[in-house]
Amino acid sequence: PPLSSIQNVHDFEFLAKNILPAGAWAYYSCGGDDEISMRENHYAYQRIFFRPRVCEDVADVDTSTTLLGTKASVPFYVSATALAKLGNPGGECSIARGAGKEGVIQMISTLSSNSLEEIAEARQPGATQWFQLYVNEDRNLAKELIRKAEKLGMKAIFVTVDAPSLGHREKDERAKGSVDTNLDLGEEVERESGASKALSSFIDCKVNWSDIKKIKEYTKLPVLVKGVQRVEDIVKAADCGCAGVVISNHGGRQLDTAPPPVEVLAEAVPILNRMEILKPGFEIFIDGGVRRGTDILKAIALGDQKVNVGVGLGRPFLYANAAYGEQGVRKAIRLLKDEMTIDMRLMGVTNLKQLNRNFLNLKKLYSG
Ligand code: FNR
Repeated sequence: PPLSSIQNVHDFEFLAKNILPAGAWAYYSCGGDDEISMRENHYAYQRIFFRPRVCEDVADVDTSTTLLGTKASVPFYVSATALAKLGNPGGECSIARGAGKEGVIQMISTLSSNSLEEIAEARQPGATQWFQLYVNEDRNLAKELIRKAEKLGMKAIFVTVDAPSLGHREKDERAKGSVDTNLDLGEEVERESGASKALSSFIDCKVNWSDIKKIKEYTKLPVLVKGVQRVEDIVKAADCGCAGVVISNHGGRQLDTAPPPVEVLAEAVPILNRMEILKPGFEIFIDGGVRRGTDILKAIALGDQKVNVGVGLGRPFLYANAAYGEQGVRKAIRLLKDEMTIDMRLMGVTNLKQLNRNFLNLKKLYSG
């Protein structure tokens, strides 16, 4: 179908399911075990209702913000996802072009199917890229990767800590028998000496908080921890001198029945504020299940003056890239931005700074 017929980011998922080789679809779409977290990531947003205000002048709406000191046209970014080439030969490079042209930040996976050099080369003028690090048992390799990312102009290091073991993903396991996946993953096996399953062997399961402190010494770039799931670990990351965290359960692909990140965020912010331990500028990112402008606004509203919140999306951009390449990525961004603009008007706000918890009714959020 023509790109103009795409109404929302769900449409890309529907298309991807129909056009992707079975193995690629399985790898992208699967979650851990019974995929409860994967579904709840999404449903949790639906348990939050707005408390919109009306009769405000909403002529000039501004969706822009600052993420880790970088001006971004929107408060969301492309999260790190491995193996973009499974869906489109343009791989992470076409995502880089699409995101960059729309003023959106791209986080690049250690297990990208394009080389870091290629993805940096595809960076658009003025665009920002971050590097996601899986820490290898060989710490020199981790060091080298950070140095390389720095040299190639990446602006932050996100250390993913929610994958000491690869989650138990049955859909992916079953599909592995299919030839196309083996071929595609085979490429990756050669390049990184590991993919999907071997991917877990790339990641050192001994990584702990003292490593995070060490990693901070390897680089001047801001270091953030991706994959925290409880307030205590946000405190630990802050104690280690991290610039922030990503509250994430890896899109529901790791521990099943891990909490939906938006619940963790809602719980964490008031506690962190009471403890008064966060340094000014500490940022909290959140990803998982975000598919609508309203989802993004809910996450932003859970932040406050002290805690700036940014929102990551993973699968939607893989699907958009699979279906239409760079143009699909641009369209996905524009759809979300347009939704945000309409939603902000309907909520009576013109700037993201105006949003706060008072715009939300959280009574139905907590399942417990
Ligand atoms: C991921 N994610 C991920 N995270 C990471 O730190 N390094 C990685 O290499 C990958 N790879 C990856 C592959 C695929 C196919 C998916 C779907 C996800 C997790 C990703 O960064 C993010 O946390 C989730 O995708 C967010 O959930 P949604 O937006 O996909 O629901």
